[in-house]
Amino acid sequence: MSEKIMIFDSTLRDGEQTPGAKLNLEEKLKIAKQLAKLNVDIIECGFPVSSPGDFKAVATIAKEVKGPVIAGLARAVKGDIDACWEAIKYAERPRIHVFLASSPIHMQYKLRKDPETLLEMGVEAVKYAKSKTHDVQYSLEDATRSDMDYMCRVIEAVIDAGATVINLPDTVGYAVPEQYGEMVRTIMNRVPNIDKATVSVHCHNDLGLAVINSLAAVQNGARQIECNINGVGERAGNAALEEIVIAMLIRKDYFKDFYHDINTREIYKTSRLVSSLMGIPIPVNKAIIGKNAFTHSSGIHQDGILKNMETYEIINAELIGGKAGQIKLTARSGRHAVRHVLERLGFVLDDNDFAEFYTRFLELADKKKEVYPQDLEALMADRLAYTAPIYTLEYLQTTSGSKSIPAAVVKLKKDEEVFVRSETGAGPIDAAYNAIDNITGIEPRLEKYDLRAVTEGRDALGEVTILIEYQDKTIVGRGTSTDIVEASVRAYLNGINKLLAMKANGNLNNHQEKEKSN
Ligand code: KIV
Ligand code: ZN
Repeated sequence: MSEKIMIFDSTLRDGEQTPGAKLNLEEKLKIAKQLAKLNVDIIECGFPVSSPGDFKAVATIAKEVKGPVIAGLARAVKGDIDACWEAIKYAERPRIHVFLASSPIHMQYKLRKDPETLLEMGVEAVKYAKSKTHDVQYSLEDATRSDMDYMCRVIEAVIDAGATVINLPDTVGYAVPEQYGEMVRTIMNRVPNIDKATVSVHCHNDLGLAVINSLAAVQNGARQIECNINGVGERAGNAALEEIVIAMLIRKDYFKDFYHDINTREIYKTSRLVSSLMGIPIPVNKAIIGKNAFTHSSGIHQDGILKNMETYEIINAELIGGKAGQIKLTARSGRHAVRHVLERLGFVLDDNDFAEFYTRFLELADKKKEVYPQDLEALMADRLAYTAPIYTLEYLQTTSGSKSIPAAVVKLKKDEEVFVRSETGAGPIDAAYNAIDNITGIEPRLEKYDLRAVTEGRDALGEVTILIEYQDKTIVGRGTSTDIVEASVRAYLNGINKLLAMKANGNLNNHQEKEKSN
């Protein structure tokens, strides 16, 4: 039977130790709520004694975030444990996480105490924490540079004192997988009462081995992994949560004895949230969550994935809540890939026309790093007979303000017929888009919205470019006006007119279209 691996997230504690990644209370709460949606088992949300701000954030999260265990960090001293308890006591399931170093270098130079005194301190700290709550985690800081006999004695004593979780951190990212696995296995075999606690691992990434070390520890007896979203953390960071949980799923043939309960479809969202609130960009080539992780550039690869996705993709982007494999058009892209993107834009060309188009595409691609859908549209401009508008904008009036409900009145003309609708929305543009949907009976998904000034000064002409998605087509819409709401409406109508023209040409299904109510 497979065993559960507990996922302990320390993005808000060790992750927040990333230089420059300080978060305010509201941001921490937002991330903690998202971590609960991700379904992590434990959220370590701070070090309450370290500052009044940290204390308040931990207490707020403990009060407001339901589901996961809420842990706070404490050194092995009463004052820290008191502060930690006062902050986490509101949680449904609170955990006090006590840490104390066990390596000779830390004991001698940092703590300046002998090993026996520190062993006693650890035991007393666990007993004290245990007087507050049942769930007490004990970390042997710098375990990977500690003496095995000493660690076994400390672990046995703190479990006797009541520790429920024993964490073996690779604090300086020094471990290599086999040795780390062996360390865990030795502790599992030598500590007589180890079955009374869960063994946990916490790996730093100084040698780029944090994820593989964590997985090696699991193979040898660890049942809790401490990790952070996007691998953020002190120095080179901690093991990346997303890499661990996806590796366990994609390679379940290898990790068949284990499972976790992470809701992987929330990974993409969580990763973007943490990146934007911490101000730490995600490298484009970062495993699982980087922009290029599901982007195919080589012509041979693009051809392969169009024939069968699995030729070059082992992970379906939807598993992490992301978008399916993207094709990046460059000078290396083959005919198959260019035709595919063109068809997604709604252009179906016969072989002769396509051959001519492909030559023009290559000329452009030689000049540009990447060719975007808008570029393909521009190349197609002289063939766009069907962009002659079906609906034209006759009249637009919008209202918005801090105290009013945003609303729009839109009048469109089709042939000689006039249609008027008024709608409300999240803002004036949304309200106008709702009115247009209502008139035209097409409800595309707005994928991208871009506004830029094409002239200078206060009366600058604004150009809005949007990408709308409908069925499997992605359409570009463009509109200009000195009024940005009007430019937005013109761009949307431009995209809708293209969709309607495609429909008239038989290039769209009818089934998603809603009955018109005019
Ligand atoms: O890296 C480390 O040792 C830590 C402990 C506090 C668990 O972060
Ligand atoms: Zn750490």
